Amino acid sequence: MTLIRSELIGFGHYLPAKVLTNDDMAKMVDTNDEWISTRTGIKSRHVAAENEFTSDISLIAANNALKSANISAQDLDMIIVATVTTDDTTPSTAAKISGKLGTRSGTITTDISAACSGFVYALTMADNMIRLGQIKTAMVIGAETLSKITDWTDRNTCVLFGDGAGAVILRACEGEGKASDKGVLATKLYADGSHYEQLKTTGGVSTTQKAGFITMDGKEVFKFAVNALTQAAENVMEQAGVSSEDIDWLLPHQANARIIENVGKKLNLPDEKVIVTIDHTANTSAATIPVALSEEIANGHIKKGDLVVLTAMGAGFTWGGALVRI
Ligand code: ACO
Repeated sequence: MTLIRSELIGFGHYLPAKVLTNDDMAKMVDTNDEWISTRTGIKSRHVAAENEFTSDISLIAANNALKSANISAQDLDMIIVATVTTDDTTPSTAAKISGKLGTRSGTITTDISAACSGFVYALTMADNMIRLGQIKTAMVIGAETLSKITDWTDRNTCVLFGDGAGAVILRACEGEGKASDKGVLATKLYADGSHYEQLKTTGGVSTTQKAGFITMDGKEVFKFAVNALTQAAENVMEQAGVSSEDIDWLLPHQANARIIENVGKKLNLPDEKVIVTIDHTANTSAATIPVALSEEIANGHIKKGDLVVLTAMGAGFTWGGALVRI
């Protein structure tokens, strides 16, 4: 049976030039490298400059992805940006990027807000539009300047987050409906709004007319994340009829190295197959997965043909997974 799939044809990322190490953080709040490293696996994070915005870092990632796909911005039918740190309340960051890239009139643009699950949500939506034949080529971006909504006086949160952008280009291709196909093989999204209060900002456009700062119940988020990330990964593997032994890489949202380690164990995957980039990026929310994907392809770890499980969980709570063959 022939069906339409989305193959992944281009990858790009960008991390802002400014780096803050754990020792730098210790000069700002009452913390130390030992606490941050052992509790989270984070050693440093990239932070955008004052006049550097989500669209700016996205644009660099987007151009890198176009180059790697060997296509032009004119070929894009859609740009979808997963972010909670939009440049302006409206229009979308995707619209701004579209204008700067010089896409043709008619290229669809939208942002989606699903916090740390945003990239998997956006990938799923773009994949479904491609499968339905509504579009042929989509750019999916996960990008955040979380530093702008971080309370830099709160040691409970400020050590955890960073800024970054990653972009992936999807293009329609033919598949046979088998796990040996290339591209997006399975996706699954979840949400449970009863956890709204456990991870949120202290305000927003309608409530306070300010973006607010990130607050959370860290322990509850931790426990939920381990189960949610595992559930989503298992679901997409089951849909495609593959097991842990068939998986080349597990690429989980990078929130905490201990969360990632627990998920790898639950899925019976050896550490060598579990991608961890949190040491140098910290948690960049919607950007962690596309940044890690682009980095790991650029450094030769992830190769063409590899089977990769993406799994993410974030505010809402939202969570979801995707199984992709590169
Ligand atoms: N430096 C030193 N001490 C700190 C720091 C810090 N930066 N931050 C908190 N502490 C203190 C607290 O004040 C508390 O002290 P107290 O016991 O005297 O009150 C103590 O450390 C808490 O320590 P633990 O309970 O051992 O911390 P825990 O192991 O739960 O780790 C952490 C905390 C890292 C926040 C963890 O719960 C976590 O990562 N949770 C997931 C949250 C997350 O990643 N959220 C991001 C968004 S959601 C997502 O992406 C899935």
